[in-house]
Amino acid sequence: MAEVGSPEATEPAAAVEAPAASDGTARPPLEIEILTLFPGMFTGPLGESIPGRVQTRGLAVVRVHDLRQWGMGRHKTVDDYTYGGGAGMVLRPEPVAEALDVLRRPDSTVILPDPGGEVFAQPRAHDLAERSHLIILCPRYEGVDERIRSMVDLELSIGDYVLSGGEIPALVMVDTIMRLLPGAIDAESTAEESFTSGLLEYPQYTRPAEFRGVTVPSTLTSGHHEAVRKWRLKEALRRTLGRRPELLEGRALTKEEAKLMGEVRAEVRAEAADLEGNDTGSAAK
Ligand SMILES: C[S@@+](CC[C@H](N)C(=O)[O-])C[C@H]1O[C@@H](n2cnc3c(N)ncnc32)[C@H](O)[C@@H]1O
Repeated sequence: MAEVGSPEATEPAAAVEAPAASDGTARPPLEIEILTLFPGMFTGPLGESIPGRVQTRGLAVVRVHDLRQWGMGRHKTVDDYTYGGGAGMVLRPEPVAEALDVLRRPDSTVILPDPGGEVFAQPRAHDLAERSHLIILCPRYEGVDERIRSMVDLELSIGDYVLSGGEIPALVMVDTIMRLLPGAIDAESTAEESFTSGLLEYPQYTRPAEFRGVTVPSTLTSGHHEAVRKWRLKEALRRTLGRRPELLEGRALTKEEAKLMGEVRAEVRAEAADLEGNDTGSAAK
């Protein structure tokens, strides 16, 4: 078993408040156990940047376990052919059961990355960041013996595609969860980013104020904080409506959001009418 935290994380630490649970009390580190046949896959991604910092600051502890240590027989076998025939090997239940007998505690949440699981999204990440002990099983091959599913608490998918194993999905989940831990990054960043408020994030700009003829919206350089806040909310609504309208379904808009959304819809309609007018104009020529 290896701990992953990197004392050599190179990014400077941001100024953050002391870690605290949602009730304001200090909380112990989130403990994460990863069961994998490829422990080396976790060293780089979890040793650098925010995940590395989270561990050096003691906000989370990640332990990576080689599943093969619970393998069977002289060859430490963990997989076998599928009953009924078919391509590929399937993870056997015995090594997983034995590993969980050792690692599972009353406060554990055992997670199986699986393409058929609940789609992992920001609300689930927030939920998992509040828990104390996560165990993530990373299968390879064709997947797992069906009886393994009864040993886990959650099956999570990272999207409608198939990866070679559970390691990258586990990394996606761990990274997402870690940055939500109190003290990981400044609270304002996570409060405003995509999905937290149910909207996509507004467009961001940095210097230069003009780049190849494209200028930064004047509101953002006005220094008028209330106007900037309103602009950002309106643009978040516009972007969500344009790119992910399903996120707005069933979302109760505040009075201000409803007003800004009305403006966005009117602007979108006007732009569409403008385009149509231009098209008719050029067709008539
Ligand atoms: C090659 S995949 C097995 C796919 C399986 N035969 C199927 O058709 O659903 C091997 C492992 O990678 C992980 N995996 C692959 N794609 C995933 C996804 N989109 N989300 C979560 N885990 C995934 C799962 O742990 C899976 O058991």
